[in-house]
Amino acid sequence: MRTIIEPFRIKMTEPIHLISKAERLSALKKAHNNVFLLDADDCCIDLLTDSGTGAMSSQQWAALMLGDESYAGSRSWKKFERSVQEITGMKHVFPTHQGRAAEALMAQILVKDGDVIPNNSHFDTTRANIEFVGGNAVNLLCEKGMDLTSNESFKGDMDITRLKSLIEETGVEGIPFCMITVTNNTGGGQPVSMANIKAVKSLLQGYDIPLIIDSCRFAENAYFIRELEDGYADKSLLEIAREMFSYADAATMSAKKDGLANIGGFFVCQNDDWANEFRNMLILREGFPTYGGLAGRDLEILAVGFMEALEYDYQVYRHATIKYMGDFLEKKGIPHVKPVGGHAVFLDAREFLPHIPQLNYPGIGLVNTLYIEGGIRSVELGSVMFGHFDANDREIASPLELVRLAFPRRVYTQSHFDYMLEVIETVWQKRSEIRGYRITSQPDFLRHFTCYFEELV
Ligand code: F0G
Repeated sequence: MRTIIEPFRIKMTEPIHLISKAERLSALKKAHNNVFLLDADDCCIDLLTDSGTGAMSSQQWAALMLGDESYAGSRSWKKFERSVQEITGMKHVFPTHQGRAAEALMAQILVKDGDVIPNNSHFDTTRANIEFVGGNAVNLLCEKGMDLTSNESFKGDMDITRLKSLIEETGVEGIPFCMITVTNNTGGGQPVSMANIKAVKSLLQGYDIPLIIDSCRFAENAYFIRELEDGYADKSLLEIAREMFSYADAATMSAKKDGLANIGGFFVCQNDDWANEFRNMLILREGFPTYGGLAGRDLEILAVGFMEALEYDYQVYRHATIKYMGDFLEKKGIPHVKPVGGHAVFLDAREFLPHIPQLNYPGIGLVNTLYIEGGIRSVELGSVMFGHFDANDREIASPLELVRLAFPRRVYTQSHFDYMLEVIETVWQKRSEIRGYRITSQPDFLRHFTCYFEELV
């Protein structure tokens, strides 16, 4: 088979620079060893997130110029609504400025104190928004999803048996809705099968509990279903996405992912009562319902972006870049989550650095060494991000210590990937020299963004 090429050529460039190693050391020191506090200009390859960091197509840039900035009922809104409805089949469409705005309003209108919200894995903003209004966010990832090294498909599936027990224990009145996140970001970007979505829906129907899909990476999930699940090889990604949404009563979306845009989101639903309540809150918080916190030009960009994300050639190329990295790591025996996910590669920092105890944050050791060695910015998903304190104020480690290399869409070429692999291999060879960290200052919530670290000697 021939090389899978980028299905685009580059019309506009943006320079990146690799500052010297001495400068990187000094930048990291100034950032208190927390890569979130670095200047982006000091990061040569920025893999902090795939959210809002992608490149737009010429079609999207052209659409931007058509933006109708009317306050109400703009042409751009109509295009946005049409595009979202074509994919989701939902009756009500509400734009929001990003995913967490949709989550916040959803939680506010649907979650009461003490309610339980199951999900395969809640993303941290989803969890935070549910907990903020007094709900309990429960993760019910299937067993195979917990095994980092098995190469099984659809490790993002929900555990149906545990879902059933949770409903029986909690009682239907305590569960206003159930969520499924596609793909499962916090669990390694693993996809959810259509069979699983269907089975969850059919179980919930028996209890009259609605299903809400967190659909940030719906197009990547549709691609995995086409490639891996029986009966979908001849379907278009649009048809597959439509079927996924057909089992849902509502969906939240961060369009900064599979909207191929730098900002945006939505909430969609079938239920008229939910729509009325959401609309009222949207006006209060985000804006009039036909723009919801976005400019008309953003709505134009998104109307095009959602459809481009469903182009098969684009997804083939996107997955090829991620698999390229996964195959290299496999060949070199570098520990990572298998199989590779839809938007990122996750290194297993605990296996990579077995000499660093979890509460000395091996993930931070790995993240910081990747930066110092090659100017690559990644992110820890381990005890700094997910650790917590028990009733006696004792720090409890996270079950997993991962480092995420998230790939912006249509941004880096194969030579960038080759460079990343060279840096990762160098870090792997030097792994015994990498040291742990301790936290010297931290806020009460979401500490990973702003805490300060000191390297242990
Ligand atoms: N749900 C999932 C599954 C996400 O991955 C994100 C964002 C959100 C909701 C929130 O959307 O950022 O537009 O408010 N994930 C980004 C990341 C930030 O880096 O994984 P948002």
